[in-house]
Amino acid sequence: MKKLLRIDTSTRKNDSHSRDLANRYEKKWKEKNSDNVIINRDLSETKLPHLTQPFIDAMFTAKDERNTSMNETLRDSAILIEELKSADTILLSLPMYNFGIPSSLKAYIDHITRVGETFTMDENGFTGLVTGKKLVIFSAYGAVFDEMKQMDFVEPYLKSLFGFLGFTDIEYYAIEGTSMLSSDVLEEKKEALSGLF
Ligand SMILES: Cc1cc2nc3c(=O)[nH]c(=O)nc-3n(C[C@H](O)[C@H](O)[C@H](O)COP(=O)(O)O)c2cc1C
Repeated sequence: MKKLLRIDTSTRKNDSHSRDLANRYEKKWKEKNSDNVIINRDLSETKLPHLTQPFIDAMFTAKDERNTSMNETLRDSAILIEELKSADTILLSLPMYNFGIPSSLKAYIDHITRVGETFTMDENGFTGLVTGKKLVIFSAYGAVFDEMKQMDFVEPYLKSLFGFLGFTDIEYYAIEGTSMLSSDVLEEKKEALSGLF
């Protein structure tokens, strides 16, 4: 049985281009993997807190030395890491907000990026522990980035971060110009992208 972890982040539920592309991917993935389970994690609804000092204290306390309160502080993080590690494919959809990722996704990343759990470090450097999985990312940008690609902090950040955690199989698809182009043109672009996955 194959497991897909689907993470959506757009605040828009109905007219979201990133969710629309993820829907198309999910449909094809289901056709290819008839024996499947899908976990949905909608970060526009899951209100993860920003990092706090108690969280960081708990995170850097050795596992067998954590008290009940520390374990409670790390509870959501532990659930999210387990969920991530249990999936074969991670499907992530997101909008670009202010040239970066939505803050809800940053909060998620802060919860799953933990030494000893998703990466290790020693005198030789860092090693990602989330290996053998596929990550497929669908992002939607309001602008067309041809001449201002240096303002796109979404693609390099996500590829670097998930690469750091151990992902080597990352597919990245962006639909650009959602605030500028007609719905017909956007549909053509989506069809073209769909041909790639
Ligand atoms: C708060 C906010 C900030 C945005 N910032 C940018 C931006 O920096 N660059 C850009 O190209 N589009 C920006 N947009 C446009 C969105 O990226 C675009 O509408 C995209 O399609 C949203 O994703 P969705 O269709 O999945 O909801 C912004 C939209 C919102 C609501």
